[in-house]
Amino acid sequence: MSMRDKLDRLKELRQLVEAGGGRKRIDKQHEAGKKTARERIAALLDPDSFREIDVFAASEDDFSNQKNPGEGVTAGYGKIHGRKVYVYAQDFTVAGGSLGRVHADKICKVLDMAMKVGAPVIGLNDSGGARIQEGVDALNGYGEIFFRNTMASGVIPQISVILGPCAGGAVYSPALTDFILMVSGTGQMFITGPQVIKAVTGEKVSMETLGGAATHNRVSGVAHFITGNEDDCMLTVRALLSYLPSNNLEEAPVFASMEPAIDRETMAGIVPDDPNKSYDMREIIRGVVDIGQYLEVQPYYAQNGITGFARVDGRSVGIVANQPCVKAGSLDINVSDKIARFVRFCDAFNIPIITFMDVPGFLPGTDQEYGGVIRHGAKIIYAYCEATVPKVTVIVRKAYGGAYIAMCSSSLRADAVYAWPSAEIAVMGPEGAVNIINHKEIAESENPVEMRKKLVDDYRDRFANPYIASARGFVQDVIDPRDTRSVIIDALNNFSTKRETRPRKKHGNIPC
Ligand code: HXC
Repeated sequence: MSMRDKLDRLKELRQLVEAGGGRKRIDKQHEAGKKTARERIAALLDPDSFREIDVFAASEDDFSNQKNPGEGVTAGYGKIHGRKVYVYAQDFTVAGGSLGRVHADKICKVLDMAMKVGAPVIGLNDSGGARIQEGVDALNGYGEIFFRNTMASGVIPQISVILGPCAGGAVYSPALTDFILMVSGTGQMFITGPQVIKAVTGEKVSMETLGGAATHNRVSGVAHFITGNEDDCMLTVRALLSYLPSNNLEEAPVFASMEPAIDRETMAGIVPDDPNKSYDMREIIRGVVDIGQYLEVQPYYAQNGITGFARVDGRSVGIVANQPCVKAGSLDINVSDKIARFVRFCDAFNIPIITFMDVPGFLPGTDQEYGGVIRHGAKIIYAYCEATVPKVTVIVRKAYGGAYIAMCSSSLRADAVYAWPSAEIAVMGPEGAVNIINHKEIAESENPVEMRKKLVDDYRDRFANPYIASARGFVQDVIDPRDTRSVIIDALNNFSTKRETRPRKKHGNIPC
């Protein structure tokens, strides 16, 4: 065979792989509003940067790669904003993107290579789960991926994009990664599908209600981002990566500094004079971070807390905040999980954490106690204590009781705690405190309503301010709200060379 013939043969084989499941199945994929694996990779990566690996990988009984071209997954590496990333994209047009042994091997190789070079991995998931015909080999393949996801956790960022059905064990690899993005209407995740649920419990539910993007972004908290279509989803992955370093030994990229969206004067008028009135904490965040350089993580889940990446003076930070306009910003089970996981991610990847505090306490109630708010709330404390990245806390208003301590107080080793003059740092709010310590005085008073009001006012004057905590050194300074951004920038610069260690151990045991 001449070289020309050999090249023709190579071209033919490559075209076969690239054709995936063929025209009919590709058309079906497009009709469902979904792209093919290769189209998705092209939309995600910088133009012409993709280098495929294991192009001709095939199972033993499929030497010419005709049965399942590409084995239902396209894998390789490329660039995003000029930085190296690894990617795999399941191909639903080939056996429904189901995962067999070779398919799993390709994903494992991507994870191994990414670990070797210290680059993020992005998985584009669209799969019917374990390839039924391959039985235990398929199940073992999942196990091999899970092991690698776990080893890579905290070493390289791992991002999962859900672009089609993700059933059974297929949801656990994404769940082991750092961030899950879902496309509304087409991405679904569930352990057991509607048919099994109906057979076992009799409950009728659609795939979308059971495991669609809205469900996992609003209700379960499994996912972190929701987008309306695949193109927006890929743009969100690219934006997310811009805030992250490529691995745990690097720093996130630095951008040009920009002024914030909210000006200095406006900052002074955000918190209402009435301490029981709410406001939107996002306004304060917008007054601190560079304009447009903010990406909220889990914006629709546990909205009483805010987590997100931002750039301040061009540098990546993690933002954690209470949100007074939802459940008064109290801490509950779901927000505890959301905050703790985010703090741990930032710490693993050298991203400083800025915490904005306005928290009346942990949410009271039997559903919270029965649901284990103690062990969930403990996760926030654990995560902040464990974190050695620079930690700057701004107490905006309420800082009560255990929730004050949990939201990165000085005792949890915040490097700098600043308070606004509106800060109220105390064991509990004036109303609750007076009910407990002055109940006799109120009951015996001739005018209990007036007496109560007077005692509340006295308590507020005496305890509900930032000055007792400042006197003890728990607050570094009480600052003018208008100076918040410049004070934070100074603190970030100062603590950028911080070195802090924790006791050597195999690993801790975070409450869960
Ligand atoms: C082999 C599969 C497959 C699978 C789909 N296909 N799932 N082949 N193994 N798991 C094939 C179909 O036979 C079909 O082939 C093609 O993919 C497209 O599937 P359709 O059913 O026609 O597509 P659609 O109607 O869109 O439905 C998609 C689906 C459905 C919802 C994903 O296929 C489905 O329910 N599949 C099974 C899901 C599942 O239960 N998986 C196992 C989970 S258990 P043709 O040739 O007709 O195009 C698991 C355990 C892992 O994953 C445990 C790890 C620890």
